[in-house]
Amino acid sequence: MTNTAVLGVLASGRGSNLQSIIDAIDIGRIKAEIAVVISDKPEANALKRVAELGIPAVCVDRKLYDTKEEFEKALVEELEKHRVDLVILAGFMRILSSYFVNAFKNKIMNIHPSLLPAFPGAHAHRSVLEYGAKVSGCTIHFVDEGMDSGPIILQESVPVLDDDTEETLAARVLKVEHVLYPKAIALYLEDKLEINGRRVMIKE
Ligand code: GRF
Repeated sequence: MTNTAVLGVLASGRGSNLQSIIDAIDIGRIKAEIAVVISDKPEANALKRVAELGIPAVCVDRKLYDTKEEFEKALVEELEKHRVDLVILAGFMRILSSYFVNAFKNKIMNIHPSLLPAFPGAHAHRSVLEYGAKVSGCTIHFVDEGMDSGPIILQESVPVLDDDTEETLAARVLKVEHVLYPKAIALYLEDKLEINGRRVMIKE
């Protein structure tokens, strides 16, 4: 992608990964603009964060739609309206159907706070601790119709310490997330990612 790419970010909550992407754009690490941030929850802190920065913040409230299909149609409409090239899921807590996935085929990324395919789902850190794993980390992947199941782009590990709680482990992983997500987006925008079945090759 040669010109400035257009990103659309979907976030349900806090928005710290969104912030790391904004920061990477500000320092020129990512050559892109965020055209819109969309949340499925009106109270999402991510919306407040960007509204203050003058980035369009839109709520597509899941509660206002009878079906998942109608909800996703509204999301796609909003992303297309803003001519989005790449959809970034940053703490977006919903599984997308094939309708949405096909609308942005191989153009949707997600971040998950574990080393997939271990510990998918909403409570990764709790599951890691309950299982007794000694290593965790985070994964950036392309999105398919499954839960945290698309082709993996980047992963980085962190240790799990004996005295870890969900909170301390989450904080250690989050630090890595904030570096890895901008890195994966930059690789994509520099045309350095090649999807080959389940494998994503990084071209240098
Ligand atoms: C992150 O841990 C991310 O990996 C997961 O949800 C959390 C979102 O945090 N998918 P934030 O909203 O980006 O601060």
